Formats: sequence, C-alpha cells, structure tokens
Amino acid sequence: MRALVIGGTRFIGRHLVKKLLEAGHEVTLFHRGQHPGPPGVKTVHGDRTRSLAPVAGRDWDAVFDTCLYFPREMDAAISAFAGCGSYVYVSSGSAYAESPVPVREDETPLEPCSDEEATDETGRSYGARKAECDRRLLAAARERGFPGRVARLSLVVGPCDYTERLDYWIHRVATQDRVPVPMPDTLFHLSFAPDVARALILLAEAGEPGTAYNVADDEVFTTSESLAAIARACGRDGKVAWRPAPAADLEAAGLGARDYPAVAPGHWVMETARLRGLGFRSTPFSEAIEQTVKESLASGRTGAGKGPDPAREAALWR
Ligand SMILES: NC(=O)c1ccc[n+]([C@@H]2O[C@H](COP(=O)([O-])OP(=O)(O)OC[C@H]3O[C@@H](n4cnc5c(N)ncnc54)[C@H](OP(=O)(O)O)[C@@H]3O)[C@@H](O)[C@H]2O)c1
Repeated sequence: MRALVIGGTRFIGRHLVKKLLEAGHEVTLFHRGQHPGPPGVKTVHGDRTRSLAPVAGRDWDAVFDTCLYFPREMDAAISAFAGCGSYVYVSSGSAYAESPVPVREDETPLEPCSDEEATDETGRSYGARKAECDRRLLAAARERGFPGRVARLSLVVGPCDYTERLDYWIHRVATQDRVPVPMPDTLFHLSFAPDVARALILLAEAGEPGTAYNVADDEVFTTSESLAAIARACGRDGKVAWRPAPAADLEAAGLGARDYPAVAPGHWVMETARLRGLGFRSTPFSEAIEQTVKESLASGRTGAGKGPDPAREAALWR
C-alpha cells in the first residue's frame, strides 16, 4: 500500500516505518526534519501545525498519524485525508477519564475537554486533548464517512525509547545492588513498540472505520514482576536486593508513585479483545524485555533525572 506516516522518525513511528518497509509497503514520511528519518525513504518536510497541504488530498491507501496532540489538528487532518483509504490516529490510554479493570473502548468514559484545555500547551491537558481528538475523529466517521480508526496505546516500551522511562529502571537494575519497587503489586499494562507498529498496520488494513481500539500486550504484570524480568534480562537475577514500597511506604518517605517513571498509582489494565479479534498477538514479555534491555544497555541512555532525588528516596532504606 501507499502509506503516509506523519512523524515516524523517533520511537513508535520509527518502529512503524520499519515494519511497513519490511512488509514491502511504499512509505512517505511527513515531518519537520528535526529528527532524521531512515535513508532512502521518501520524505516531505513540513510542520503539521502550520499546514498539511504538501501531503493533503493525495491518493494514500493509509495515513498513520503519530504526532497529533490538538483538536484543531484533528479537524485539519479530517479535511486533508477525507479521501484516503484508511486513517489511523495514534491516541493514548491517557484519553480515558477512569481506570476500571479493564478499561474498555466504548464503556470507559473519556476525559472531557474544555475550550481552554483544547488549546492549552502544557502536559496537564494531554489526556483531555487526546480524548477530544478521539471524539472528533469518531464523529467525522459516523457523520461523514471519514475512514478513521483510533489506536489508544498503553505505555509503550521497547528499543529507541527517547522518553527513557524504562531506561531508568534498566540502568538501576543493571548497576545498583539495592532497588526500590514502588507499588509492587500494582498491575501496569505495557505495550511493546514493534507490536504497536504491527497493531497500527493491522488497524489500517482490517480495522473498522469509526472504531477505537485499545493497544496493549496480551500479558499484564505487576511492577515487581516487570522489574524481575528486567533483572533476568540484565543477568542480575538473585543479585538485586529489592525494597518493595507500597503507597503507604512511599508516602512516609515523602514520595508518590508518580515520582517514578513507568509506575502506575493504581492498576492499569486495558481490554484488548477487539484488537485480538483482528488477529493481533503480542511478543512474549520475556522476549520483549530482552530486546529492550539489550538495546538500552548498548545505547548509553540511563534515564538519569527521571526518578526522585536519591536523597529523598534514601528514607525508604531507613
Ligand atoms: N510513548 C508512549 O508510551 C505513548 C503512549 C501512548 C500514546 N503515545 C502516542 O504516541 C505518539 C508519539 O509517538 P512517538 O513520538 O514515538 O512517534 P514518532 O513518530 O516516532 O516521533 C514523533 C514524530 O513526529 C514528528 N513531528 C513532531 N512534531 C511535528 C510537527 N509539528 N509537524 C510534523 N512532524 C512533527 C517528529 O519529527 P520532526 O521532529 O523531524 O518533525 C517525529 O518524526 C503520540 O501521539 C503519543 O500521544 C505514546
């Protein structure tokens, strides 16, 4: 297929482009040029917040939108790509206003979004803006036949993750003998970037227009289990002294779950039956973590500064 990827050069989009090329698709990237794309891929440079005109209205079989954060950008995308074969919007689990176990696409309420939030540029309104983009896409599909699908991603891990959220834990487990385990029994549903890429392609090819799909792994683990998997992949099994720190212990130390990257304050589990119904199966977690750890340790990324001040954390050990 002739695929347009808006973005595509950093993490999730980079995995997407790799999978599209491996599958023999013809790929064009549209991005500003601040992060270089792979060599040999057709590229159109431009800023989507200014204009989509350089790539609008063309005969795309599929458009994958990885960097859409504002409702006004969704309106522009709906106009620009009304005639494409399928449009896949990379949304987020943060669009949900609640976190029942599990979060379901059509049942769990989405964040409301005020006019102020719709144009607010801080991270505080991220979930509200993503949710409003979901609503606008789904309404355009319902009312005007816009061929859009929504992919609501759980936290994504994997090679080349510039957010360094898992690098923080990998570096600690690989280099420290004592490691805290915040919220040890809390389930946190992750997704593996190469699997997310496959899921996005599947949604373009087989997803229902006007439908939202949760995207997450087939397996769900607690923080303790995920850190133990990292230790095994680092060859540090049995060599790390863990300090389980449930909410009350964190609080006593003046900390909270949100002080740590990739740690949820409460269970976070996505229902993925809809995606699995299209044939999606994720990579076994042990394999995904092995690939992630290997690339992370070779990359030099350490996630420095992503967690709490070590001096404050020291209270956990007293
Ligand atoms: N990471 C997670 O855990 C997670 C979880 C849920 C949802 N998500 C969603 O995943 C998406 C981000 O994924 P990613 O960063 O890994 O994607 P990516 O496609 O690998 O990287 C972002 C791309 O967007 C381009 N870009 C940024 N601003 C642009 C603009 N104004 N105009 C044109 N191109 C622009 C960047 O290139 P240039 O800088 O060269 O323009 C880059 O190619 C977001 O939609 C986010 O909501 C992520």
